Amino acid sequence: MSDAITLENISKKLGGRQILNKVSFTIETGDIFGYLGPNGAGKTTTIRILLGLMTQTGGRISILGKNVSIDENRRNIGFVLETDGLYDQMSAHDNLVFYGRLYGVTQSEDRIRDILRLVRLQDRARDKVSAYSKGMRQRLALARAMIHNPDILILDEPTAGVDPTGQVEVRQIILDMAARGKTVFFSSHNLDEVQRICNRIALINRGVIQLYGETEKLQREMSKSEVLIETSAAIPETVMSELRSLPGVDVREIKDNSVVISTGNSTGIPDIVDFLVRRNVRIEEARRREASVEEIYTSILKEVEP
Ligand SMILES: Nc1ncnc2c1ncn2[C@@H]1O[C@H](COP(=O)(O)OP(=O)(O)O)[C@@H](O)[C@H]1O
Ligand SMILES: [Mg+2]
Repeated sequence: MSDAITLENISKKLGGRQILNKVSFTIETGDIFGYLGPNGAGKTTTIRILLGLMTQTGGRISILGKNVSIDENRRNIGFVLETDGLYDQMSAHDNLVFYGRLYGVTQSEDRIRDILRLVRLQDRARDKVSAYSKGMRQRLALARAMIHNPDILILDEPTAGVDPTGQVEVRQIILDMAARGKTVFFSSHNLDEVQRICNRIALINRGVIQLYGETEKLQREMSKSEVLIETSAAIPETVMSELRSLPGVDVREIKDNSVVISTGNSTGIPDIVDFLVRRNVRIEEARRREASVEEIYTSILKEVEP
């Protein structure tokens, strides 16, 4: 697979604040890539830089293997930003004709019909956009992004503000777009939807990438490597700090009489149990734990809170 988009150490400073800090990830051709993060994480800023609407303070971007300017790539990219940019007083059909002209593509009525069918608006093609629901507008914005038949689609929170049924529809359209060979990059603060439809994920918080990789692999790795240990009394702080310093060990959660520890290759679950027993910690129970990406998400977000 070739790379569709690569970001290398993209940083952005705005008004003295570090909005993005060395953001790096690769999106491969054919990916549905989920750019996940809470509000204010830096998703829109990344997208703006990617689209050339803002310049980075540092770092490199390459699109479709070429390190060329965004202007040369614009024909290969379709996008939807936070505001949908549709003309309210025009119909869906006329919006598409208009945007097609902007991109210099004269398109047949057949093609417009095809795109409207893709976003399931064929029956409302002649209605004014002002009469549309938020979900319908978003679907039309997706159609508009497809107008010049780009290879890559970049969507900033395409399901935000859309009701649950509408969200399902938007997700289905994203899947359909991918089935047509498009590479899709979309941002979201909704972990569940990202897990559902993305084959690759990057999690950003406070301008820093916290997690990146194939969805399945992340789920597998995370679920394998956690152990929940219940003790008869709280583990003394001195033991805890010693535990933390073991290679590959990461303490994810501490309660009165239990800890959740993520383990690495160099220190396995038996090693941790052995370590605790030697320090006279009475273990009631130790068991492998299935961590969902949701738990990982919340635990990572918690870690970086002040
Ligand atoms: N033009 C700007 N000037 C200063 N700060 C900004 C500007 N745009 C965004 N920010 C700040 O950058 C951070 C990231 O914003 P943004 O990329 O919009 O996050 P997200 O899209 O993940 O919600 C936020 O803290 C936001 O307040
Ligand atoms: Mg945003």
